[in-house]
Amino acid sequence: MKPAKMDLSSYRKEFPFTDKVIFFNHASFGPLPQRSWNATEEYYKCLKLEKIKNMDKVAFGKLDEIRVLIADMIKAQPEEIAFAANTSYGLNVAAWGLDLKPGDKILLSDVEFPGNTYPWTNLKQKGVIIEFVPSRNRCFDIDNFVRAIDTKTKVLAISFVQFFNGFKNDLKTIGKICEEKDIFFVVDGIQGVGCLDLDVKECKIDLLANGGQKWLLSSPGTGFIYLSSDAKRKINPSFFGWMGVDWELNFSDLFKFDLSPFPSVRKFEIGTYPYSLIWTMRSSLKLLWEVGIKNIERHNLALLDLLIEHLKEKNYQITSSLDANHRSSILSFSGKNAKNLYQQLRKNNIIASLREGSIRVAPHFYNTPDEMERLIELL
Ligand SMILES: Cc1ncc(COP(=O)(O)O)c(C=O)c1O
Repeated sequence: MKPAKMDLSSYRKEFPFTDKVIFFNHASFGPLPQRSWNATEEYYKCLKLEKIKNMDKVAFGKLDEIRVLIADMIKAQPEEIAFAANTSYGLNVAAWGLDLKPGDKILLSDVEFPGNTYPWTNLKQKGVIIEFVPSRNRCFDIDNFVRAIDTKTKVLAISFVQFFNGFKNDLKTIGKICEEKDIFFVVDGIQGVGCLDLDVKECKIDLLANGGQKWLLSSPGTGFIYLSSDAKRKINPSFFGWMGVDWELNFSDLFKFDLSPFPSVRKFEIGTYPYSLIWTMRSSLKLLWEVGIKNIERHNLALLDLLIEHLKEKNYQITSSLDANHRSSILSFSGKNAKNLYQQLRKNNIIASLREGSIRVAPHFYNTPDEMERLIELL
């Protein structure tokens, strides 16, 4: 599927708040596009029986569409995608589904978001060893990763993009090393998927866990898991439910207790779905698809280029990597009093965030150069 070339500014009407505030905080949460709100409301109208529909057909149909839209976005197959409530769910699917034994080692980054450490440190109760790979300049360091690998190393779990400085990891190189060393490669995609191009096959990712609440402009409570067809054999569902088997949408004969799990990753979808959120997510994914992830990536980098130029001129300290291979839609910088600056921005209706002592600026496709100029003016 190829999205049409679009004038990005035509999407501003999806975000009516833009006439009041400048929102550069997509690394925290993604505001809901108007059309996704309308879609959600549409579901609730059905739930209120304002509209009488076969709800099973409608909701399950949208689930299938979500799998296709996500697979297209990360270059996977729809049967490798499962709906998930957040990133943590997908990470736990890997943590508890892998056959890890006492003494097995899991490698994490020492500058990882805690959402991608707790599911792993929780495995200490099984005797699994957790080792944090030392970062270099607060970025994941491949040489230190290679040094940390030994015969007991079974898993590496890292973020696609680091939450506080926007460092985009070289997943292709890291994935190749994991494949060579037979290490299960888990990626937390939430800070990159939706604004950066990603090919999960090329990067040899075994499992990608992703919440929908940031760059995917969906609601909290949405997300997905990608589990490669090869990796699926290594993961045993550690919990399982009636939505993990195929009822062929016939819920009138339910005393069937020996149905087999779905052969697809869908077997990790355990119970009744949050249908309203599914309607939200589908609508947001369609919007991103229309705009095109490559267009979004280019647009966001160009907006941040304007900021970088100014920050360099005025001697702010840029705390993100400026290496083109490691840039993302997040840029962080600090000055004399970052906290004060952050508050001043907020007072002037510019919403960014303060992370690890730096101001984090995270624009999305509907932000304009004028908005970035306004931030620059205030600085
Ligand atoms: C890198 C990263 N992973 C995960 C999360 C959130 O995890 P979850 O979707 O499980 O709440 C965040 C931010 O909230 C994040 O920045």
